[in-house]
Amino acid sequence: MLLPPPFAAMRPSTLLPFVLCALASPSFAAIYTKPWQLPRITYDYIIVGAGNAGNVLAHALSANSNTQVLVLEAGVSDENVLPAIAPFLGPSLTPNTPYDWNYTVAAQEGLDNRVFPYPRGRILGGCTTANYMVHHYGSSEDYDKLAAITGDSSLNWSNMKKYIQLHEKIVPPTDGHDTTGQYDPSLHSTSGQVSVSLPGNSQTIDAKVIATTEEYSEEFPFNQDITNGNVLGISWVQASIGNGVRSSSSTSYLRSANSRPNLHVLINATVQKVLQTGFKNGKPLFGGVLFQSSRNQFFPGFVLATKEVILSAGSINTPQILLLSGIGPRAELSALRIPTIINNPSVGKNLSDHVLLPTIFNVNGQESLDNVLRGGAPLDAALNQWTTSKTGVIANTVTNNLGFLRIPNNATIFSTVADPATGPTASHFELIFCNFWLNPGVAMPATGSFLTIIAALISPSSRGFVKLASDDPWDKPIIDPKMVTTAFDKFALREAVRSAKRFVTASAWDDYVIGPYGTTAGETDAELDTHVRQFSTTVFHPVGTASMSAPNSGWGVVDPNFKVKGAEGLRVVDASVWPHLPNAHTQGPTYLIAQRAAAVIKAGL
Ligand SMILES: Cc1cc2nc3c(=O)[nH]c(=O)nc-3n(C[C@H](O)[C@H](O)[C@H](O)COP(=O)(O)OP(=O)(O)OC[C@H]3O[C@@H](n4cnc5c(N)ncnc54)[C@H](O)[C@@H]3O)c2cc1C
Ligand SMILES: *[C@@H]1O[C@H](CO)[C@@H](O)[C@H](O)[C@H]1NC(C)=O
Ligand SMILES: *[C@@H]1O[C@H](CO)[C@@H](O)[C@H](O)[C@H]1NC(C)=O
Ligand SMILES: *[C@@H]1O[C@H](CO)[C@@H](O)[C@H](O)[C@H]1NC(C)=O
Ligand SMILES: *[C@@H]1O[C@H](CO)[C@@H](O)[C@H](O)[C@H]1NC(C)=O
Ligand SMILES: *[C@@H]1O[C@H](CO)[C@@H](O)[C@H](O)[C@H]1NC(C)=O
Repeated sequence: MLLPPPFAAMRPSTLLPFVLCALASPSFAAIYTKPWQLPRITYDYIIVGAGNAGNVLAHALSANSNTQVLVLEAGVSDENVLPAIAPFLGPSLTPNTPYDWNYTVAAQEGLDNRVFPYPRGRILGGCTTANYMVHHYGSSEDYDKLAAITGDSSLNWSNMKKYIQLHEKIVPPTDGHDTTGQYDPSLHSTSGQVSVSLPGNSQTIDAKVIATTEEYSEEFPFNQDITNGNVLGISWVQASIGNGVRSSSSTSYLRSANSRPNLHVLINATVQKVLQTGFKNGKPLFGGVLFQSSRNQFFPGFVLATKEVILSAGSINTPQILLLSGIGPRAELSALRIPTIINNPSVGKNLSDHVLLPTIFNVNGQESLDNVLRGGAPLDAALNQWTTSKTGVIANTVTNNLGFLRIPNNATIFSTVADPATGPTASHFELIFCNFWLNPGVAMPATGSFLTIIAALISPSSRGFVKLASDDPWDKPIIDPKMVTTAFDKFALREAVRSAKRFVTASAWDDYVIGPYGTTAGETDAELDTHVRQFSTTVFHPVGTASMSAPNSGWGVVDPNFKVKGAEGLRVVDASVWPHLPNAHTQGPTYLIAQRAAAVIKAGL
């Protein structure tokens, strides 16, 4: 059973009657679906992937009407896809649907050799159309460390935070509640592209979370707004939602550029490889792109870029395309009879991901959202409310509060391992408060009310890889994040569970929390390790597989200007360039990095 069962009742098929309702949804003009509809075969820029980063670039580069831009997207249109519009239905878009790449991880040796889905959006907007919409940028130390690693101070926080102005459009929550004290307006922009708002539907647990930050202010301080670069503490969630509907890179960046005649978008176009078209400055020049609509298409489509090809296919598919193109570890490529054009052992390596571990509690009463998730009348009522007014449960994402926390500096683990956090004010783990049962891959009980505190490992030291299974672009690559394979990761997850359990000992939870559910009850290291091995999955945040590094570094795939090392005419701009995980759900950091890339390209760097 691969579906996340809490959301099984919300599968698109179950919701068909609602899809027929009139929806405010994107309407696209210049989106082509057939290769022969493309008006040109030569463009200035070809962007591979209309996702998080790709659409930022499409918007920025097509702003000059003399620049011809093509975006090739493997996936489908997001038009009228209800779960891509109604925020709380978002989790039903994946895994294993027409909007997903349907990946599965390799057996995870650190997790009892379990396999589980590894969703990636395959739809206009990419993962920003399929994600859970939590939106923020991370710790200042994530960016300062990136600047230090690459030797480029342009990437430090004090330089990068200016892109928030171009990117974000903060809007009131859909319930119109007073947000005073829940965020700091001075840190935000009202003139950018992606709508961001505070929770639009209050829940019974919200006040309890906030009361806990008062009672336990030392361990769980309230943090008014992590947009200031200091993530530590418990905050109100900011989400990529406006007026009760999802704001993706497609409904924002792409839609606002969509009427430009110099921007063409072709969907249902799966890029197989980039082709060397010559040499420039003594290096291979990559000016051609091969793509197909289906595995059986005999003649692949072919387009040419006179300036650049930009890979924005995400942390799994970007390294896959590089490898298929002959850019990667020579031995791996030779074994698959792919000629090596650039031997780079770093391509696909250093895959790093946040680990998701549910800690679940039985709770009293009927005020959790479990009955909405079970379907039937409560779900119908919620859908009707959203359909008529874009308010209520469905207008919201899955959490209203989250927090980033550190393991104490004197913890025993630090006597044997170096602290993997990006800095002394960055976090080791995150707690995400959900007013219902959330345990991916495990069916929810037929009755009962639950509180789930997701414990997410934010600074894992485990590193994995993506590599090709064959030289066929339609074969799924092998994805092995090697989750929880280091002593630090095991230690940090145990401490995160203990932290979640201490959180609910605050008096606000006295009449609400009955006790830990199942293996959440474990107390010894061994019991908690079992809980970790049985229930850990992914927060869906892979990075690192086309890592950025200093120009002269002995490892890494792109330089600080996003150029593929050893190549001409080829850049990578997406989450894969992050050498380390940011202290954030990864869409915000990807938006900022894409804004930076747009500035670099426009400046001719
Ligand atoms: C289920 C889920 C929930 C998430 N929840 C959150 C959240 O709440 N908050 C948050 O901040 N982050 C979340 N994330 C993560 C975040 O959305 C991603 O890290 C980020 O959006 C990735 O951006 P990207 O530009 O690297 O790739 P993507 O946005 O994935 O874009 C890549 C695009 O390239 C296309 N593509 C790939 N290969 C090819 C090819 N060969 N040819 C043509 N096109 C191709 C893909 O179809 C896709 O459209 C979530 C992710 C998932 C999957
Ligand atoms: C993913 O699985 C769904 C459901 O089986 C299917 O419709 C879709 O075509 C698959 N997508 C890919 C890329 O294989
Ligand atoms: C960031 O870079 C600028 C130069 O661009 C520098 O002046 C500033 O001190 C740097 N900030 C940090 C925190 O390193
Ligand atoms: C994609 O192209 C293939 C091959 O031409 C076709 O069979 C399929 O229906 C197309 N899919 C979409 C969503 O247009
Ligand atoms: C992985 O990243 C580390 C830096 O964090 C680097 O030293 C190492 O060389 C990288 N490995 C590969 C194969 O690129
Ligand atoms: C760490 O310091 C705190 C506060 O000083 C103390 O209570 C705790 O026992 C110490 N932990 C360890 C592992 O030394």
